[in-house]
Amino acid sequence: MLTLNHIHQGDSLKLLPALPESSVDLIVCDGPYGVTANEWDKISNIQEFNLNLIKEFSRILKPGGAAYLFGKDDCIDFIDYRPHLELKSRIIWYQPSRLAQGRLNYTNNYDVICYFTKGLRPATFDLDAIRVAQLVELEHRKRCENVPSVKNGPFGKTKFNELGKNPGNVWGDIKQLTYKSKELLSRDVLNTIQKPEKLIERLVKASSKEGDIVLDPFAGVGTTWAVCKNLNRNFLGFEINHQFIEMAETRINPPAQEFCLKFA
Ligand SMILES: C[S@@+](CC[C@H](N)C(=O)[O-])C[C@H]1O[C@@H](n2cnc3c(N)ncnc32)[C@H](O)[C@@H]1O
Repeated sequence: MLTLNHIHQGDSLKLLPALPESSVDLIVCDGPYGVTANEWDKISNIQEFNLNLIKEFSRILKPGGAAYLFGKDDCIDFIDYRPHLELKSRIIWYQPSRLAQGRLNYTNNYDVICYFTKGLRPATFDLDAIRVAQLVELEHRKRCENVPSVKNGPFGKTKFNELGKNPGNVWGDIKQLTYKSKELLSRDVLNTIQKPEKLIERLVKASSKEGDIVLDPFAGVGTTWAVCKNLNRNFLGFEINHQFIEMAETRINPPAQEFCLKFA
């Protein structure tokens, strides 16, 4: 039996088929990219691997449910995902501070997050929950608003929302974790494991509601779990590495601090 608000230890590829059809509202899938030397990341054909995940996601998502698949820019190249899920967006998570510097090519400084839905219309897309500041656009708008081509053009009646704008599909406003990040659990999980909570939070806020079930099949050290707990979503995680599960459990339920009161 798979319990909620828990990370189950095991191979996702074996655990996913145990989930009932149309049972999950949102999937956050930050699994293998097929590019690092980590044992778990050694995938000979990442596109085939992702296609199998996409097929399984299509089965377990509720109608209108969303799946976010992380990877490199070629992670879904030349595979036909269209019979299974709708690709709504390829989000670029821009990371200008990558250490590796290319000599014969341009340095890769982004990850891709493929946003899929089951069916054309998402059950939830809470834009107001993820709006970002639109200062530049407002200033630009003010400068332009009396220009006749703008005033009488197709966007003449566009209202600018005080809450901010749609974040678009290039995200440069969420920084990678560094050695100095307060939320980093350990140096060992920097770069290839732990993701920033802000990044996962945007996905969870946009594509789920309170009480929804959010699945993370490659749960790592529990970033999706931490976000779900804060946002009152139900979380279900799979992870092969028991040490990461222990770190996640401590993150979610930190041991009680012992206080020693000293009196002068
Ligand atoms: C990029 S990390 C995910 C990190 C997570 N988003 C976080 O912030 O902690 C990918 C994780 O997938 C796990 N993993 C890889 N292959 C797996 C499999 N077949 N089944 C379950 N977990 C797997 C790895 O151990 C690793 O922790």
